[in-house]
Amino acid sequence: MQTTWTVGPAKGEDLPEIFALLEECDLPKEGLARCLSTTLVARKEHEIIGSAALELYQQCALLRSVAVKSAFRKQGIASSLTRAALDLAKEFHMTNVFLLTETASTFFSKQGFIQVHRSNVPENVKQSIEFTTLCPDTATVMMTTLDHLNDAPTTRNRPSFASS
Ligand SMILES: CC(C)(COP(=O)(O)OP(=O)(O)OC[C@H]1O[C@@H](n2cnc3c(N)ncnc32)[C@H](O)[C@@H]1OP(=O)(O)O)[C@@H](O)C(=O)NCCC(=O)NCCS
Repeated sequence: MQTTWTVGPAKGEDLPEIFALLEECDLPKEGLARCLSTTLVARKEHEIIGSAALELYQQCALLRSVAVKSAFRKQGIASSLTRAALDLAKEFHMTNVFLLTETASTFFSKQGFIQVHRSNVPENVKQSIEFTTLCPDTATVMMTTLDHLNDAPTTRNRPSFASS
């Protein structure tokens, strides 16, 4: 059955629920609290069913913690969270968004990311905890470039910028 959800900014009190979600999805929690102000969650009523977070590094961002509770997958929730995160990156004038994934490169290809070599990643992004300690060298590095010429008006509608 199709779930009704909303995507919006995470609040401080959401952290334990987001951590539980990341644990369920086998994703690292370290460093997430530091980027809470650029973390998005998908909510079904009062329950957090998905997350996505951005770490900002000058002109580039790292997309991390894209996760959806298993019972709510395949309904477009992660796609919605990813689009909202890219809108947010545009608001911060980021030019490129990078990510590391061990399991979801097909999903991110559908979101416009392409696989790149680690040598293409800017030094400051490579200093992030994901690159230095959390994700193994075998993780796939992906990148998308943000098109600031075609900024969609959706970015003006936060925090209620997406819903099913
Ligand atoms: C990867 C992950 C985030 C995808 O979440 P999701 O909400 O299921 O993703 P979406 O629904 O947006 O898209 C997934 C699929 O559902 C399809 N879909 C999208 N909207 C849909 C809808 N309304 N109805 C049915 N299917 C839909 C998409 O086309 C896509 O198809 P695919 O199975 O052929 O790839 C989820 O599987 C997950 O949490 N995995 C564990 C954590 C992880 O690996 N995260 C990535 C690393 S940061």
